[in-house]
Amino acid sequence: MATCPFPHAAMAPAAAGTCPVSVQAMAFDPFGDGYQQDPPEYLRWAREQEPTFFSPQLGYWVVTRFDAIKAIFRDNITFSPSIALEKITPTGPEANAVLASYGYAMNRTLVNEDEPAHMPRRRVLMEPFTPEALKAHEPMVRELTRQYVDRFINDGRADLVDQLLWEVPLTVALHFLGVPEEDMDALRRYSIAHTVNTWGRPKPEEQVAVAHAVGNFWQLAGQILAKMRLDPSGPGWMKYGIRQQVLHPEVVTDSYLHSMMMAGIVAAHETTANATANAMKLLLQHPRAWQDICEDPSLIPNAVEECLRHNGSVAAWRRLATTDVVIDGIAIPAGSKLLIVTSSANHDERHFADADLFDIRRDNASEHLTFGYGAHQCMGKNLARMEMQIFLEEFTRRLPHMRLAQQTFSYVPNTSFRGPEHLWVEWDAALNPERNTPELLRRQQPVRIGEPSKHAITRPVIVEAITPLAEGVIKLRLVSPDGQALPRWAPGAHIDVECGSAELSRQYSLCGDPADERALEIAVLREAAGRGGSAWVHGRVLVGDRLKIRGPRNHFRLDESAQRLILIAGGIGITPVSAMARRAHALGIEYQLHYCGRSRAGMAMLDDLAALHGEQLHVHVSAEGSRLDLQALLATPEAGTQIYACGPVRMLDALAQACAAWPEDALRVEHFVSTVGTLDPAREQAFEVELKDSGFTIPVRADQTLLAALRAANVDIQSDCEEGLCGSCEVSVLSGQVDHRDVVLTRAEREANRQMMSCCSRACGGQKLVLEL
Ligand code: HEM
Ligand code: FES
Repeated sequence: MATCPFPHAAMAPAAAGTCPVSVQAMAFDPFGDGYQQDPPEYLRWAREQEPTFFSPQLGYWVVTRFDAIKAIFRDNITFSPSIALEKITPTGPEANAVLASYGYAMNRTLVNEDEPAHMPRRRVLMEPFTPEALKAHEPMVRELTRQYVDRFINDGRADLVDQLLWEVPLTVALHFLGVPEEDMDALRRYSIAHTVNTWGRPKPEEQVAVAHAVGNFWQLAGQILAKMRLDPSGPGWMKYGIRQQVLHPEVVTDSYLHSMMMAGIVAAHETTANATANAMKLLLQHPRAWQDICEDPSLIPNAVEECLRHNGSVAAWRRLATTDVVIDGIAIPAGSKLLIVTSSANHDERHFADADLFDIRRDNASEHLTFGYGAHQCMGKNLARMEMQIFLEEFTRRLPHMRLAQQTFSYVPNTSFRGPEHLWVEWDAALNPERNTPELLRRQQPVRIGEPSKHAITRPVIVEAITPLAEGVIKLRLVSPDGQALPRWAPGAHIDVECGSAELSRQYSLCGDPADERALEIAVLREAAGRGGSAWVHGRVLVGDRLKIRGPRNHFRLDESAQRLILIAGGIGITPVSAMARRAHALGIEYQLHYCGRSRAGMAMLDDLAALHGEQLHVHVSAEGSRLDLQALLATPEAGTQIYACGPVRMLDALAQACAAWPEDALRVEHFVSTVGTLDPAREQAFEVELKDSGFTIPVRADQTLLAALRAANVDIQSDCEEGLCGSCEVSVLSGQVDHRDVVLTRAEREANRQMMSCCSRACGGQKLVLEL
């Protein structure tokens, strides 16, 4: 057990003898079955009560929440990655002597290299990971997968790990690295030994055997490298590294190449094998999701992300605090070791709504931290994604009737690399679809390199009811086709509805009861001057129709810690505002609800609102001469009061003026329409952006958005509306003046200049911007 870092001697007499390490923190054991079976569940208490704690058993500080972990990944100077490959359990003298006898000298690779050495090395070794280079591996991955499935498809039963998931990623890894196919069984044994040696807690009697395997692995890596050096021509990342060494000998060192030869084999194969085994287990445990991807393979790329989020193959990573730091309010001294549990971050409700729900249509699934983040983010992530997509595609097409066999799952006990050691599945071979439909074998789903496109992820819903709410306004009640629960949402959230074609999609705020898991409700106003979405909903949609939606997602979130709320809705803007008012009512927050409209006949939900909100509801009808006097309502700024508003632009502009004297962030609004025009290259200026976390600079041409330039440089950025409305393409700004053109950021946020919407905003006057990417 490690020494307790708290200064017991210095404690006040009343506290002396009561160590501040909680009982749960004391009991935390990442090598026990609880953590091995389900790390995020095992750490639920910590995420909720003690997000950062000291583990005496491990001698590490354990960090469990999303924001803290992302911030740690972001700053690789304060939080050094140097301990990423250190033995988490120091071994005894006998095992150390065995390792020394093999000349074992595992040193810095990329993943555990500090700056300034790391970034130049990462950059000179990047080329084989570009989308074009990765695409070249696709036929090999497909062919291998097909051959392995052929071997067992008629058996009706297989252990996917032993019979495919271990060897195919290993073979792909060796191809990718340019290593000739060596003894696969030995490499598998060595890789597991490396995992146990680095992230496990081998018992003293196991340590020696592990040390022999690791020593052999080290020597084999050296031999492969020596052979490769004789002729480093041809494809393969390690050969590329040897060639780059000639050009940059001080950057690509000998020690790096030997260490990477060993670590690279593990990084490229064990992670992917485990990730796919976890994914298959998860999908088969959720038959609805499995059936959905069997029926619609275009869902596979996002299903891969959701599997990596929900049950990824790297459960935790490590960093060393180089200075005194404060994490989640806890002071942590310089020199402390941190176990950052990414699998717990991926289940943090603060970032992922309804986080425990396995939802293959989740639209921020790819924000998971399973690949790390920032300067060291996994370089091989798009190779892994490609392999996983191909595996899922082959399985769903050839074995859609596969199911999990009865079994108990076991894991190699360690903090970080996680996947079941065996995954038994079974099926009725007589029902194999290719027996009757041989052409099935030729069908292929194009692989998507990189993050999934958000536009591809739709959720089918059935229109259960259509109710007129007011003149020109109808309410749609949408339920899932199989009656299953829909994702939970929070007031202010919206969904995108595809209005007849993928090109015409419109955002509608949710207005029902967030506690009702059965249905999502939206109110739609027929807009004569609109772009056709509302006319389609009003004219074409019937009860029983199947619609495609995306989301829910939320960029208009209610701050539930507000002391007092003024909620203002104009016309159909009542939809998100009504959900906020309902929540304020439920939470007992003091609130006023102002609802403005031209005539009562056109105002939706009046009776329901009056029934629920009584005196809190103030109705302002211009036809009756009872307009809302914003200046009078907001004459006196009040600390602790927040104003939320949704409605027509004119109303929101007037509101912004009326709030001029209010604290910066008091007013939060949701717009209906974008004020962004199309890009006119004749009037725009080109500019440069420096990507601080990634370490390079890219130009943005006058005829290009920042979003397009980032994507061209292979930087994954989410987007949705691409007209400054939805907030999904937000990037963080470190320096440079931004010409903000979106309607998402508040005035205070614009002035703070810390964020920008990459789909529309640009640099002022062609200056350079520095982004946190
Ligand atoms: C780094 C996870 C597949 C190569 C990392 C890191 C993680 C990770 C957590 C550290 C990130 C950080 O410190 O911010 C995974 C997972 C994979 C996977 C979950 C599969 C699902 C691959 C593959 C390769 C690869 C197929 C191919 C060669 C690398 C490299 C780094 C890295 C080179 C070091 C990057 C750097 O430090 O600059 N990976 N990885 N990984 N991974 Fe992966
Ligand atoms: Fe919607 Fe940029 S993509 S604001």
